[in-house]
Amino acid sequence: MKKILFVCLGNICRSPGAEGIMKDLVRKNKREADFHIDSAGLYGGHVGALPDARMRKHAALRGYTLDSRARVFYPSADFLEFDMIVGMDDQNIRQLCQLAENDEERSKIYRITDFCRKYTQYNMVPDPYYDGADGFELVLDLLEDAIVGLYEYCSNK
Ligand code: 4NP
Repeated sequence: MKKILFVCLGNICRSPGAEGIMKDLVRKNKREADFHIDSAGLYGGHVGALPDARMRKHAALRGYTLDSRARVFYPSADFLEFDMIVGMDDQNIRQLCQLAENDEERSKIYRITDFCRKYTQYNMVPDPYYDGADGFELVLDLLEDAIVGLYEYCSNK
């Protein structure tokens, strides 16, 4: 069982998108027994909320239903529970590294764009919160690309 936690700032746009796309891919491959997928935010201002309505709309246009509820990242529990903690941008990675208490915890931190195959010119998934529709489409393009790479990385290990 591979346990993967996607992390962004608010847990209402990028990381729930990643969670929904990865769960869809796992389901399509009938690998539900092999993966535990969740997401969390480093900022707690949206705890309990569904993903942002714009994120849900753009995801739905691609066939993904995003119905997770925002929660915060719990360093002590989440570094123990998950095998991979996958951040979206420099700020996420920096904060996760600050929260990690030892090398084992630090070794679980990954940057999602490192798994991209097509969008290799990006080293982060930009925060779409203050952007228009194009920002949400870019988030989904990057996440779909990265998650195929991440799924294969996990499947080959
Ligand atoms: P996310 O986007 O990190 O992709 O969920 C954001 C959502 C909310 C805020 C920032 C980013 N915010 O400042 O409230």
